[in-house]
Amino acid sequence: MKKILFWVVGIVIAMQFIRPDFQNPKVDETLALSADKQAMNVLKTSCYDCHSNETKYPWYQNVAPMSWIVASNIKSGRHALNFSNWENIDAQVKLTRLTRAKQVINNGMMPKSEYLLMHENAVLDKEKREILEQFFDAEIQKMRG
Ligand code: HEC
Repeated sequence: MKKILFWVVGIVIAMQFIRPDFQNPKVDETLALSADKQAMNVLKTSCYDCHSNETKYPWYQNVAPMSWIVASNIKSGRHALNFSNWENIDAQVKLTRLTRAKQVINNGMMPKSEYLLMHENAVLDKEKREILEQFFDAEIQKMRG
């Protein structure tokens, strides 16, 4: 029994040495998404930790294995959609992402549930969801000209 405990503690400690890189890439304001203040507020509190280069890191970023989950969400989140790189995204791709964004906020896929557990203020209530939906719709309209 003591031996097992020894190994478990040892492995948990060893895990702490595998540390993801948590540097935010630089934000070029000329490429970043622009939004009215209200929409930007919601985006920043609910989406930007994974979908921008302006990630605010939680305390548990330092504790494996949570740090690995955080790093993986940020990596795939930015890869799927990075609002800090918005103006570089192809128009057709933008349209798809915006349309998809409307879907994922309405079917509760985004923000991710494991994130919401630790970020209560990121939960989208009806009002916030409507703000985002209107913003995404307006962007879609703009792109369709
Ligand atoms: C905890 C990190 C996290 C947060 C917060 C988050 N996302 Fe995501 N998002 C991801 C990841 C990771 C992916 C990649 C696909 C997946 O793993 O589901 C993704 C994918 C997406 C996609 C592409 C989905 C597709 O199938 O094409 C959209 C659109 C999106 N997110 C919108 C949002 C919006 C809008 C918000 C805020 C309301 C948000 N996300 C908040 C992590 C996050």
